[in-house]
Amino acid sequence: MEILYPVGDAATGARIDRAGYERLYAEAARDPEGYWRDEARRTLEWITPFTQVKDTSFDAADFRISWFADGELNVAANCLDRHLATRGDQVAIIWEGDEPGETRRVTYRELHAEVCRFANVLKANGVRKGDRVTLYLPMIVEAAVAMLACTRIGAIHSIVFGGFSPDSLANRIQDCDSRLVITADEGCRGGKRIPLKANVDKALAHCPGVERVLVVRRTGADIAMVEGRDVWWHAAVEGVDADCPAEPMNAEDPLFILYTSGSTGKPKGVLHTTGGYLLWSAATFRDVFDYREGEVFWCTADVGWVTGHSYVVYGPLANGATTVMFDGVPNYPDHGRFWETIDRLGVNIFYTAPTAIRALMREGDGWVAKSSRRSLRLLGSVGEPINPEAWDWYHRVVGERRCPIVDTWWQTETGGILIAPLPGATDLKPGSATKPLPGVRPQLVDAEGAVLEGATEGNLVIADSWPGQMRTVWNDHERFFQTYFSTYPGKYFTGDGCRRDADGYYWITGRVDDVINVSGHRMGTAEVESALVAHPKVAEAAVVGMPHEVKGQGIYAYVTLNAGEAPSDELRAELRSWVRSEIGPIASPDALQFAPGLPKTRSGKIMRRILRKIAEGDVSNLGDTSTLADPGVVEQLVAGRV
Ligand code: WT7
Repeated sequence: MEILYPVGDAATGARIDRAGYERLYAEAARDPEGYWRDEARRTLEWITPFTQVKDTSFDAADFRISWFADGELNVAANCLDRHLATRGDQVAIIWEGDEPGETRRVTYRELHAEVCRFANVLKANGVRKGDRVTLYLPMIVEAAVAMLACTRIGAIHSIVFGGFSPDSLANRIQDCDSRLVITADEGCRGGKRIPLKANVDKALAHCPGVERVLVVRRTGADIAMVEGRDVWWHAAVEGVDADCPAEPMNAEDPLFILYTSGSTGKPKGVLHTTGGYLLWSAATFRDVFDYREGEVFWCTADVGWVTGHSYVVYGPLANGATTVMFDGVPNYPDHGRFWETIDRLGVNIFYTAPTAIRALMREGDGWVAKSSRRSLRLLGSVGEPINPEAWDWYHRVVGERRCPIVDTWWQTETGGILIAPLPGATDLKPGSATKPLPGVRPQLVDAEGAVLEGATEGNLVIADSWPGQMRTVWNDHERFFQTYFSTYPGKYFTGDGCRRDADGYYWITGRVDDVINVSGHRMGTAEVESALVAHPKVAEAAVVGMPHEVKGQGIYAYVTLNAGEAPSDELRAELRSWVRSEIGPIASPDALQFAPGLPKTRSGKIMRRILRKIAEGDVSNLGDTSTLADPGVVEQLVAGRV
């Protein structure tokens, strides 16, 4: 039975109440131009005010997405300079290291000075407006400094998550032609060291275009420095002027590239631009988290993912908030880490992923009970559908029924949250991201693209542009159009399936394309398959998702070996670690089945539907297998299930 949690006392004083939401939603639908003109003016500080607001079309004939096109602004100025007069001495970032209590507090004034100094370092190293800079860093203050320094001078940052392999890093550096890379000697996660600089060295063997590597000293490990190429961060900033003017950027100038997996081919460089992205991350942070002056906000994501961009750095800082940067993991040194840290730092708003909630829930309530969590006012969830059991535990045990949960649906492509409750306006239903934010027009369509009305289920599309949406795939505008706007002409296709109930609430059911959501991180099945096939003993591979108790989805790989190769547990282990080193630990298959053959149609197309069913353990009803070239392989696969 569906339970409704009405807006409660905890939301008292929220800026947007029920009537407010209805009014804003109607207003944005009736007059998007006027709505976004006002929002952009009151949320951001412009160097040159815009006169144009919305210029967008999702149709092939006049496809274009442009917002505030003649306005100029600077992201670092919005996140730092404009706060100096009113809150220069307020803490902007609380950094919490891997070891509990290893903490650093940086005020807005200090952050501003560090960013200006580092921006001058970038300039001195030849970085100009429009140049790409790749960041491969732990969750340290320098990561935020480097991001903001790029934005201050108009350079485009591309962050590569520290868990990605040297090969993945090399591909991303090459794709956007970065000439400068910023990294650290090592990262620390859960008491283990991550050889970031050594990984960069391996990657750069394939990236001759990189001229400079700036290296943060994080652990003090003994690492190799390449003469003439590698420079220590601390040496580079020494004595550098902390005065650096903020470059006036056009609203549509590129802000950052972030690579994300798709259903086909190599990861896409999602490009976000300056004005629309900053407006979206700032306004959604303010409204969805109902952020109040002086509060401490903790989003546990890494800046290597979009959640870290929008809700660790840009959204909070644009609002003058105090944001926590966490360089650790939820289960180190023990399963109470989150809750103990919340108490110690006085966290008011906590935003994490269902996978972390499920992992901690399994360890029992005792770890939570050791903490008071008195400071908590609001909880958030992101990255994948949250199952009602995890929702209930988060609400009842962590939030002690005091804290509303905002389940926020969005994507790397959307720049920020599109569907989520507003704490003072929306009754909650566990497992539903509830309703679209003002200005967001979701629709459900059937396979042919017909718009479905009322309570129904279908594919989730967005019918009109919003300022925070991605503008292109780096270097491949055609792929951008094909991927998102060609399936259902005139609409942005999210790749998600979704149900809408009689109250107009949205329930995301998961990806409908060949993308797997592993622990809230997106993985393309094609990427894992090509990594497997690159192994000398592998002839063919097919990868599908399977239900996983903690990760949400796990990776299930079917592997056909070359003639003469024999399956063995050693080879299975070897292939798993092969994928780990080709892509990164998150891509390592949870289950790997050696298959004598794969189910294919007579035209040679792999029938993934059947592979998915077998991986799910749902073998009683495999559907029509008569079109298979060799129906016999199905029985073999069922028998060999792991
Ligand atoms: C995909 C986007 C959003 C930032 C982190 C992931 C799934 C995301 C939810 C949610 C159900 C969700 C979707 C989406 N997803 N949030 N609250 N409920 N599903 O960003 O890597 O770009 O992945 O994550 O399937 O398409 P991403």
